[in-house]
Amino acid sequence: MERISILDTLNHVGEEVVLKGWVNTRRKMGKMIFIDFRDRSGVCQVIFLPNHAEALEEAKKLGVEYCIELKGMVNQRPEKQVNKDLATGTVEIEALELKILSESETPPFEIEDEFKEEVNEELRLKHRYLDLRRERMQKNLILRHNVAKSMREYLYEQDFMEVETPILTKSTPEGARDFLVPSRNYPKKFYALPQSPQQYKQLLMVGGIEKYFQISRCFRDEDARGDRQPEFTQLDIEMSFVERDDVIVAMEELITQVVKVVAPEKKLTFSTMPRKTYQEVMDEYGVDRPDLRENKEDPNELAFLWVTDFPFFEKTEDDKWTFTHNPFSAAIPDHHEWLMQKENIGDIITTQYDMVLNGFEIGGGSIRNHQPEALKKVLEIIGYSDEEIQANFGHMLEAFKYGTPPHGGIAFGLDRLVAVLAGEQGIRDVIAFPKTLEGRDPMMDSPSDVDQEQLDELSIKLV
Ligand code: AMO
Repeated sequence: MERISILDTLNHVGEEVVLKGWVNTRRKMGKMIFIDFRDRSGVCQVIFLPNHAEALEEAKKLGVEYCIELKGMVNQRPEKQVNKDLATGTVEIEALELKILSESETPPFEIEDEFKEEVNEELRLKHRYLDLRRERMQKNLILRHNVAKSMREYLYEQDFMEVETPILTKSTPEGARDFLVPSRNYPKKFYALPQSPQQYKQLLMVGGIEKYFQISRCFRDEDARGDRQPEFTQLDIEMSFVERDDVIVAMEELITQVVKVVAPEKKLTFSTMPRKTYQEVMDEYGVDRPDLRENKEDPNELAFLWVTDFPFFEKTEDDKWTFTHNPFSAAIPDHHEWLMQKENIGDIITTQYDMVLNGFEIGGGSIRNHQPEALKKVLEIIGYSDEEIQANFGHMLEAFKYGTPPHGGIAFGLDRLVAVLAGEQGIRDVIAFPKTLEGRDPMMDSPSDVDQEQLDELSIKLV
């Protein structure tokens, strides 16, 4: 007999079925044993009665989290015994045969009860595979799956092409510290893990891809926070032949559609996303990612907002210019000449746009400088010498010589978007295997020591 899901028992009343899953709880009542039985689809109640003596005898061995196979009869519960808190509360499974597939030691924390936030996160992450069995984590991962799925479906429909870009790449100046990977074949040289696919996606535009997307992993060696992980996921997008408004409109449609599909219960504060300039939000709210919900207690309210017109450059502590967002961005058309003349530098406004949701920056992008001279001006303003420009950006300047289409794009922080939709405070609860705030993985115990032999191969000497 083929296995069915626990939720599907509702469609099999009066029939014998085979179920497979885990023991949530077990209680003895007189000569009977009851278990709450769980699989990915949900939980149901199973009863072992004396008239099926062999199954009952086997059930005496069961403990929580035992993995079992069960043959049972789906019985309708009498009206009085319906459990309204359970999706399968109108039925009960009468056990006919039981097979223990694998035993379980007592788990280090309860799976069945939604425990309080206080439960040591270190312990949860050390046994993440058990943590993932909990209803909350299952829900979050299903939501994440649905978000990624609906993004893909929408973008395929809009004729975007999914392209993968390298993970072993070259150090890029995107504002954060790089994770470096030593090269065995080229001693003393390093790859870098990508902080984002920024340069590759622009080179795909040079390559004639026109509409690109990728659900891509990004790596930034920064200290973790609630909304920041050293390794995170972007929905990364780039489009050719677009101006700022084209990207904003297209991306607003994408996100609105995704929310409608995956979280129809959510209420949008604004039917179209308001657009405010950086100056306006700073004057009005004192932050560049204000939370514009009408009722901040309401977990089902979503206040999206675009923030535009950021200053392109700001001064560093040692009085040099640096870019506020992205060195590849273009200035707004009115300020293009200032950039080319390197004048009024502090007043130049970039084409950068950020999408904000309930106080979180969930995405950001810009129109790019597709003319090599304009990109070169940005790099000169932030103080790169001609040699440095050549060494770090020579490939971009070279590529841009060959009929580069005007282009622009955006990247959304998938973890942050899912966290807000899930009503979670931090992104760790929407990532299957996140790092701790200290950047460790307690389950795998990484980072970890490596063999001397590995180091020798890489020409690395530890100090
Ligand atoms: P940016 O650096 O703004 O832009 O990143 C885009 C979005 O990614 C999310 N994000 C993060 N999420 C979790 N942990 C992190 N450490 C983290 N850092 C960023 C945020 C952010 O809005 N290449 C450009 C995009 C472009 O211009 O097209 C980029 O990476 O939600």
